[in-house]
Amino acid sequence: MDRLVDEEKQLEDEDELSLRPKYLREYIGQKDVKENISVFIKAAKLRDEPLDHTLLYGPPGLGKTTLAYIISNELGSNIKTASGPAIEKTGDLAAVLSTLEPGDVLFIDEIHRMPRVVEEVLYSAMEDFTLDIIIGNDGSSRSIKIDLPPFTLVGATTRVGDLSSPLRDRFGIISKLEYYTIEDLCNIIKRTADVFEVKIEKDAAIELAKRSRGTPRIANRLLKRVRDFALVNGSGNIDLNITKDSLSRLKVDSEGLDDTDHNLLKSIIYKFNGGPVGIDALAASIGEEVTTIEDVYEPYLLQNGFLKRTNRGRVVTEKAYKHLGIEYQKTLFD
Ligand SMILES: Nc1ncnc2c1ncn2[C@@H]1O[C@H](COP(=O)(O)OP(=O)(O)OP(=O)(O)O)[C@@H](O)[C@H]1O
Ligand SMILES: [Mg+2]
Repeated sequence: MDRLVDEEKQLEDEDELSLRPKYLREYIGQKDVKENISVFIKAAKLRDEPLDHTLLYGPPGLGKTTLAYIISNELGSNIKTASGPAIEKTGDLAAVLSTLEPGDVLFIDEIHRMPRVVEEVLYSAMEDFTLDIIIGNDGSSRSIKIDLPPFTLVGATTRVGDLSSPLRDRFGIISKLEYYTIEDLCNIIKRTADVFEVKIEKDAAIELAKRSRGTPRIANRLLKRVRDFALVNGSGNIDLNITKDSLSRLKVDSEGLDDTDHNLLKSIIYKFNGGPVGIDALAASIGEEVTTIEDVYEPYLLQNGFLKRTNRGRVVTEKAYKHLGIEYQKTLFD
C-alpha cells in the first residue's frame, strides 16, 4: 500500500517538474514579486555578489519551489535543496552547507520546521558565511569555525508566522506570494494545455480558472482530470460542457470549494451554530489536522469571505450560507 502511495506521489511530482517554468519571463502573475526579484538578481550580478538571502512565503501550490529554481537559473548558479523537517541535527545542516560552492543557491523548503538548535547554526552561516559547530561530546567538546563560500539561502514556508524573528531578520528579501487572478490562472492553464498538447476553449479555461482557488497547482491538477474526461467521453478537446461536467463529477463547486470545504463550513453551521468555534474543536469535528485546516483550507475560505476569524474563533459568513443554500441566521457576533 505504501508503495502505491509513493508511486502516485512520484508521478505527481514528475508532472509538476515538467510543468515548472524555468525562467522569470515564463513565470506567470505575481507581478510585484517578479519585478522586484528581477531587479535584485540583476544588481547582484552587476556587483558580482551573491543574491541576498530570500524568503518566499504563501499558501501551498502558489509557486514557491518553482520560484526558488527560477532564481538559481536566473543567477546561473547551482541549486542544492533541503527540507526543514529533514534537517534534524546540526550535523545534517553542516553536511548540506559543506557541499556548497561559491554562488550556489541553497533552497530550504518548509524552513519553519527546522529545529531551533539547527536554526542557530544557520544564523552565522547566513550572516558571515561561517559554520560554527561544536564537535565531540561533553568531556572533550570544542567549537570549530569553518569558512563557507558565499551563497544565497532561499527559504520557503507556508507559515511565516512560525519563523523565529532572528531567522526572519536574516533574510534581506522577503516576498509574499498571493493567490492568482482568474486571468493569470487562465494563462497558466493555457500554458499547461500547450505542454500536454491538448486544445482547450477559452470559456473552458476561464471556468477552470474560476474553480482553482487562485492556485496554479490546483489549476493544473483539475486540467489533467478534465483532459481525461475529454479524452474518454468526448473528442479530446476541452470545451465548456466537458469542463463543467467533469468538475461536478470531481465535486468541485462553482467557487472551487470541494467536499472538505463544504464539510468544514457545514460543520460550523450545524454543530457550532455558525460559530465562533475554536480551531481544535473544529479540527476534531471534521477529522482533519489543525495544521491542514490552517495551511490548506482556511486561507482561501478567509480570503474569499466564506469564513471570518474573530478573537473567539471561526465564524461562517452570510456569503457561505448563501453559497451552500442554507438559510442564514444572524448570530450574536455579527
Ligand atoms: N507563476 C507560475 N506560472 C506557471 N506555473 C506555475 C506558477 N506557479 C506555480 N506554477 C505551477 O504550479 C505547480 C506548483 O508550484 P510549486 O510547487 O512551486 O508551489 P509551492 O508554493 O512550492 O507549493 P508548496 O507550498 O506545496 O511547496 C508547479 O508545478 C508549476 O507548474
Ligand atoms: Mg514547494
